[in-house]
Amino acid sequence: MPLSNDSGVSLARIKEDFPVFHEYPGLVYLDNAATTHKPDTVINALVSFYTRENSNVHRAVHRLAERATVLFEDARRAVADFVNAVPEQVVFTKGTTESLNLLAYSLSLSEEFKTFIAPQFEHHSNFVPWQQMSRRFGREFIPLEINGAELELDTLERVISNRKNGFVLAVSGLTNSTGFKLPIRQVVDMVHKSGGIIVIDGAQLIPHEPFDFEDSMVDFLAFSAHKMLGPTGIGALVGKRELLERLPPFAFGGEMIDRVDLHDTTFASIPQKFEAGTPNIAGATGFLAAIDYLNGLNRTIVAEHIERLTSLCHEELSSIPGLRILSPEKSHGIVSFVHESVHPHDLAEFLSQNFDVAIRSGHHCAQPQMKGLGIRSSCRASFYIYNTVEDVEVLAKGIRNAVRWFG
Ligand code: ALA
Repeated sequence: MPLSNDSGVSLARIKEDFPVFHEYPGLVYLDNAATTHKPDTVINALVSFYTRENSNVHRAVHRLAERATVLFEDARRAVADFVNAVPEQVVFTKGTTESLNLLAYSLSLSEEFKTFIAPQFEHHSNFVPWQQMSRRFGREFIPLEINGAELELDTLERVISNRKNGFVLAVSGLTNSTGFKLPIRQVVDMVHKSGGIIVIDGAQLIPHEPFDFEDSMVDFLAFSAHKMLGPTGIGALVGKRELLERLPPFAFGGEMIDRVDLHDTTFASIPQKFEAGTPNIAGATGFLAAIDYLNGLNRTIVAEHIERLTSLCHEELSSIPGLRILSPEKSHGIVSFVHESVHPHDLAEFLSQNFDVAIRSGHHCAQPQMKGLGIRSSCRASFYIYNTVEDVEVLAKGIRNAVRWFG
């Protein structure tokens, strides 16, 4: 039965909205965890901004500047609504990486938090900032040891219980390397009970399923537009209001300023306090268009569609001799694997050249996680709304061919 969104449009026809699939009709794009493709509404939003509104925001009073400012703030409201937060809680950044660096830096300046904890399976963007800031500012850094792909709650409990000082747990809602989904509610409760705060790297999670920031009790959430149909170069940091208000700014200049005297400066209130310099205004209009596109779909059905493709991929790949699946059995949107006799880069190149299948190979910016899995690199197939059952079948067929070829 074809999957449908609210307006009855078949998910199988979604590809029609994406110009890249007109350009390359045979493309089987399974590198969505790295970045997703853009529907024409997002591409048109960027062109329209530069054609009709191009101007800086929050500065001038002329017509174009006012229109650009309204659009930019509409985008902030859309991002806030998307995760059930209020606009003041949404800081626009370059993306997840900048959101996490901003936080690691600003939280390091606060005496409240003496320890930073990050699981071994984190993307470098949610590992290295905490590791490096703790060195620079004399904080304690605890890498939570993970053997495999999943965080055991007992391991976490052992590390966070009986802590004397405030701590930060920085953890992915959905890991980029294997698709392990964190039981967020349980982890949030554990962290808060032990007197810590929790930062969720939502780069992979937010594109995939509805998330309620208010209800989740999470302290900070970071994500990027480009992994959810939007443009590159823009993302968000969403935070609890009282925490954002308490934190010192990360960068200086532009509209984050309130008043500058020769020897001191006061800063704007949130969220502008964290937005130094001219922001990515065009990117914000593209982010808005991406959210509009996703809101036009039944997101529960989309999430189920991706679950179905993921489990089909597990099923197909598990019958290939010599292939080891690294993702947990119930991974979400991502299936990672290695083959005993074909190097991940060879496999990825073979798939691209012979089947027009795009997957990622390498360490996935998660070297400590690779170590925990006992490997140096892997292949990763990652799914999004426009993928189909046929895409999974082509992937499996391509891998079988590659194994025969290299075998
Ligand atoms: N973080 C992106 C990935 O996992 C780039 O591929």
